Amino acid sequence: MKLLLLLSLVALGHCLVTRIPLRRAKSLRQSLREHGLLESYLKQHPYNPAAKYFSIGVSTEPLENYLDDEYFGTISIGTPAQEFTVVFDTGSSNLWVPSVYCSSPACRNHSRFNPADSLTFTSTNDSLFIAYGTGSMTGVLGYDTVTVAGIEVINQVFGLAETEPGDFFYYTPFDGILGLAFPSISSSGATPVFDNMMMEGLVDENLFSIYLSKNEQSGSFILFGAIDPWYTTNGINWIPLSAETYWQITMDSVSVGGKRIACSFGCEAIVDTGTSLLAMPNRAVSTILRILGASSSGEINCRAVSKLPSIVFRINGKAFPVPPKAYVIESDGYCILGFEGMDVPTESGELWILGDVFIREYYVIFNRANNTVGLSRLS
Ligand SMILES: *[C@@H]1O[C@H](CO)[C@@H](O)[C@H](O)[C@H]1NC(C)=O
Ligand SMILES: *[C@@H]1O[C@H](CO)[C@@H](O)[C@H](O)[C@H]1NC(C)=O
Ligand SMILES: *[C@@H]1O[C@H](CO)[C@@H](O)[C@H](O)[C@H]1NC(C)=O
Repeated sequence: MKLLLLLSLVALGHCLVTRIPLRRAKSLRQSLREHGLLESYLKQHPYNPAAKYFSIGVSTEPLENYLDDEYFGTISIGTPAQEFTVVFDTGSSNLWVPSVYCSSPACRNHSRFNPADSLTFTSTNDSLFIAYGTGSMTGVLGYDTVTVAGIEVINQVFGLAETEPGDFFYYTPFDGILGLAFPSISSSGATPVFDNMMMEGLVDENLFSIYLSKNEQSGSFILFGAIDPWYTTNGINWIPLSAETYWQITMDSVSVGGKRIACSFGCEAIVDTGTSLLAMPNRAVSTILRILGASSSGEINCRAVSKLPSIVFRINGKAFPVPPKAYVIESDGYCILGFEGMDVPTESGELWILGDVFIREYYVIFNRANNTVGLSRLS
């Protein structure tokens, strides 16, 4: 899976769709009043419905690990709540779910949002188009209450999918995507969920952190507003971002077995929960396959795995190794290297994607307070 947003298409999207102004706090009341429901709603939801929860500003969203390939959690949209499973994707910035306007097979095979069933929904005529590394969608933007990890974001803008062409989203075990990257790459200028959480003071600290489990369906989580000390006993290395688009950082080099094999003069990398593997320039893939003695399709003898060297990413002067047990994916007695080739040049070198293969080795803190990424080695 590669949910990484394709930036060239975002640029195109910006030319085609106008930026929409943020609409705040009004429409919930308006809409309830129109339906004559304001009073009873306020009774059921006193001013601060879960004061304790909210004032703490710290909340965990459990993620389901689907075959070490996709991690997703449940959110709800609307009043009453309609539930959806979404990937929490640090490689894109929009929230969208399938809607009843969509009759693509991919939509019919998933939960679909019905705006007519929500008392708090506000429509717009603003369109949305997003292309990911795998799959794309078109839709329309709307506003509604979005609840993530018990945090209620009023008037969150989100996409209601109208088409989801192709196969990819048909087979996904999740319904939609919740982007956690920066507003600068949000299609149609839609304010990302975490930006609204910060602006509305719903999180204690302006950061979230992610733990992805290996080989276990449960245990993975995203924690909003805090760092869990249980996962940082090896200390945290803070790395400044090199761009506020994706969660992008500069790497010094990449080595295998003590030899620099790529990125010798520096390169760029993004930390992307929505990408399953380690994605790197095609040339680097060939070099690594050769050094590790893998076949050209990336297959390797399972008995040799324990003797393979780690891949070491040098970032901000520190080494971040990924051992063979992390980068080799074993299934049905076959062993495959978890790398994929991808040539995306940036102004400061080639782009690498540190996907789930990397993130399973490090607890990652995505810090918007000072635009850094914190990495804490897990084992
Ligand atoms: C989508 O359809 C496939 C095959 O028809 C099925 O196996 C899968 O469970 C469906 N997915 C969802 C989320 O309903
Ligand atoms: C959307 O467009 C339709 C038709 O032009 C118009 O009647 C409607 O008021 C518009 N809705 C919004 C929310 O702007
Ligand atoms: C960023 O914030 C973290 C957490 O508050 C702090 O520990 C770290 O030193 C900060 N890093 C920089 C470069 O400001």
